[in-house]
Amino acid sequence: MSATSTIFVLNGPNLNLLGVREPEVYGYDTLDDIGGRLEDQAQALGLAIDMRQSNHEGHLIDWLHEANAVRARAVILNPGAFTHTSIALYDAIKAITVPVIEVHLSNPHTREAFRHRSYVGQAAKGTIAGFGAMSYALALDAAAKL
Ligand code: DQA
Repeated sequence: MSATSTIFVLNGPNLNLLGVREPEVYGYDTLDDIGGRLEDQAQALGLAIDMRQSNHEGHLIDWLHEANAVRARAVILNPGAFTHTSIALYDAIKAITVPVIEVHLSNPHTREAFRHRSYVGQAAKGTIAGFGAMSYALALDAAAKL
């Protein structure tokens, strides 16, 4: 069975606070602002997005499994701080065949040393980081071309 036209956009901990959380680092867009623009972009590309956020690691793992089970075209994943800690997310990405694109608003490599290691990035198809909300738009363009 071929992939569907749906792209999962999964967001991890604290990203529900976008817009008010350290705006000098993450910008003033809320997650809803980003999601709204991604919906328009997806529609123009003939795709659909399914955007979700959770502060719980297990939810993100379950959603990765679900994306695979429903044959999503791709997953755009901002794992938040789980990026730097979660071998369980690394294993989940390795366990599925749907391509996962890691995104970050900020560029973790220019920040604290504890953000320099990404477990997710070691399993993901690719990573887009440092472009603010545009990181998501770039990831969606990449997902459309996979
Ligand atoms: C983030 C970067 C992470 O280091 C941080 O823990 C986040 C957000 C980003 O989008 O820039 O929560 O994933």
